[in-house]
Amino acid sequence: MKLLVTGGAGFIGSNFVYYMLEKYPEYDITVLDKLTYAGNYDTLQPLESNPHFRFVRADIADREAVFRLFEESGFDTVVNFAAESHVDRSIEDPGIFLRTNILGTQVLMDACRAFGVGRFHQVGTDEVYGDLPLDRPDLFFTEDMPLTASSPYSASKASADLLALAYHRTYGLPVTISRCSNNYGPYHFPEKLIPLMIINALNDKPLPVYGTGENVRDWLYVRDHCSAIDLVIHNGRVGEVYNIGGHNERTNLAVVKAILKHLGKPESLITFVGDRKGHDLRYAIDPTKIHNELGWLPETRFEDGLKLTIDWYLDNKDWWEKIVSGEYMEYYDRMYSNR
Ligand code: NAD
Ligand code: DAU
Repeated sequence: MKLLVTGGAGFIGSNFVYYMLEKYPEYDITVLDKLTYAGNYDTLQPLESNPHFRFVRADIADREAVFRLFEESGFDTVVNFAAESHVDRSIEDPGIFLRTNILGTQVLMDACRAFGVGRFHQVGTDEVYGDLPLDRPDLFFTEDMPLTASSPYSASKASADLLALAYHRTYGLPVTISRCSNNYGPYHFPEKLIPLMIINALNDKPLPVYGTGENVRDWLYVRDHCSAIDLVIHNGRVGEVYNIGGHNERTNLAVVKAILKHLGKPESLITFVGDRKGHDLRYAIDPTKIHNELGWLPETRFEDGLKLTIDWYLDNKDWWEKIVSGEYMEYYDRMYSNR
């Protein structure tokens, strides 16, 4: 199997590359990544000596570079993780989200068509379903729900999903899509809730909770997301969408308190700040389809996954200290100073 993983230097993409090389040591994996602020080559560096691994720095929206790579590589399967992924940044500046998440996906699918790639898998998000009310715990996202995105980020991801389904119907491109809930785990960039709160707590800095902290997210340990994508690319039906989630709903406040408790830090570090514009209330996935069709089940309980994650950040300070000391801090000051 010749596998192309785009966005493989980011959080989930890198976890997926490690997962796949461990499970299928004979697969040839190429990572294509632009190395934006969110991409980190340090994460993949230990794979440099593996003859089955190759890294290519390129932009998925650069048609010439992408076509050249596809022509020389003969990929069987493409898994597209490459994206601008942070909702707050999309609210600040949507343009790059449309370019990478929509036009970049188009370029990849055009290359798949031109070079006869056997499967294009689009890594999507549950945010394309909009949100659910807080007072209806009986409601869940299912694959047949209409797409109603709230942020420029989720609108760009919804566009990419629609484009992928259109390429399947119009050109017969063998496409699958997965839509996952919030991930957490190693190599998570510290602008996102869980790593940001772990690092701030370790540094005795305020923990900025948006609004009331009552918003609910459905957390999945990243390795469980990787095992689901593995099943979809091997056994999923083309033209189909698969929701991925483990019924792990928590309010943001509950997550932040659990982190503080684990680290033995006081709840007085919690600071309520201005809410996110258009802030989605609740996400909750119904994973019945992927369970019934492909036999997928998550393996990691939230309490265990959170402990694994916190321990990873404690053991890998070098990885995140480089990020926190650099350009990311300019973003942090801009985002939180007047909130
Ligand atoms: P991330 O921001 O950590 O990583 C994105 C990666 O894509 C980075 O390595 C970055 O350098 C690369 N990239 C960005 N623009 C690029 C471009 N134009 N060309 C090539 N590479 C580019 O994101 P993540 O959290 O790992 O998310 C990966 C995918 O999973 C995204 O598509 C996201 O929408 C989706 N997703 C994420 C979550 C989550 O909880 N993080 C949940 C569901 C779905
Ligand atoms: O649901 C899947 C999505 O999950 C992915 O598609 C996105 O790429 C990913 O970033 C994530 O989006 P969220 O907006 O849910 O994640 P984030 O970590 O930014 O925020 C989680 C919740 O925590 C959300 O309700 C906002 C809140 N929050 C976030 C930050 C960064 C805070 O209260 N304070 C913060 O400082």
